[in-house]
Amino acid sequence: MKILITGISGFVGSYLAEYCLSMPGAEVYGTILSHHLGDEMKRIEGVKDKIKIFECNLTNRIAVERVLQEVKPDKIFHLAAQSFVRVSWDGPEDTIFNNIMSELNIFESCRNLGINPIIQIAGSSEEYGLVSEDEVPIKETNPLRPLSPYAVSKIGQEMLGYQYYKSYGLKVVLTRAFNHEGPGRGEQFVTSTFAKQIAQIEKGKQEPIVKVGNLQAQRDYTDVRDMIRAYWLATEKCEYGKPYNICSGKTWVIEKVLEFLLSLSTVKNIKVEKDPERMRPSDVQILKGDYSEFNKATGWNPEIPFEKTLEDTLNYWRERV
Ligand code: GDD
Repeated sequence: MKILITGISGFVGSYLAEYCLSMPGAEVYGTILSHHLGDEMKRIEGVKDKIKIFECNLTNRIAVERVLQEVKPDKIFHLAAQSFVRVSWDGPEDTIFNNIMSELNIFESCRNLGINPIIQIAGSSEEYGLVSEDEVPIKETNPLRPLSPYAVSKIGQEMLGYQYYKSYGLKVVLTRAFNHEGPGRGEQFVTSTFAKQIAQIEKGKQEPIVKVGNLQAQRDYTDVRDMIRAYWLATEKCEYGKPYNICSGKTWVIEKVLEFLLSLSTVKNIKVEKDPERMRPSDVQILKGDYSEFNKATGWNPEIPFEKTLEDTLNYWRERV
């Protein structure tokens, strides 16, 4: 089976590459952006001799078609995206253009080449946006009220997937992943930025102050190692064209995430300071999902407790700062 992972050197892509390689008979291919050839490649250092990598800007239709023509994949995990919510307000056109055009190019290339792989589209719980306390746990039928350009781009991706399934019978699998974390997470995301700052403080490389944004938001966290298992199962067992929540069904207030990481630190009395730069024009306040549809289709349940995810993330940064 030929598997293509877009954004293979990204946080999720690198875990998924390793997981796919453990499947009997799997050949793994991946795309990366050429400016990711440096640091990001470290994530796939361990598997780079077992996979074939293409430098490919997915917003370039010709480049996408060339890769698909060469690989002729049976499965595509389309993970490549501008995935940092905060940045999407600074450059909304970049986020919307990148996220939607890349997917459109994959779909149109498949049609043009006459291939019909299973294509997983990595949607997001951000799509739900404004959710009130009496609307949780969130089901797939909850309204989508996006609060960021990123969320709009993910809704666009999902709608495009639905339309290509209905119009042309493309085998599009739609996942709505809630937050997923773990070692190797990009340092701009909350678990990683807190853990990295604490690791730096422990090494005496930062004064004992952790900078933070909105601590009152609530997120539903899953370990990335559980998430990639879910993505695999989604492509094996889910119905095409129908969105599925993937989450733990439990929430953590961001303040508690910080408190837990601080409790693991060898330095006590670390101060916490609000950084206005880390605040968002409209933050999603509560995400707590219901994954019963996905469980029914696949039998999947999350296994790794979030405390372990946080501990592993802190240890990851301790080894690197
Ligand atoms: N990044 C960041 N940095 N977030 C902070 C900070 C900080 O210093 N302090 C508080 N927060 C709050 C944010 O305001 C948000 O409410 C929450 O922590 C989580 O922020 P992120 O880790 O940046 O993730 P996200 O929820 O915005 O988006 C992530 O999850 C989505 C799925 O729900 C990303 O992985 C998206 O790509 C993904 O789709």
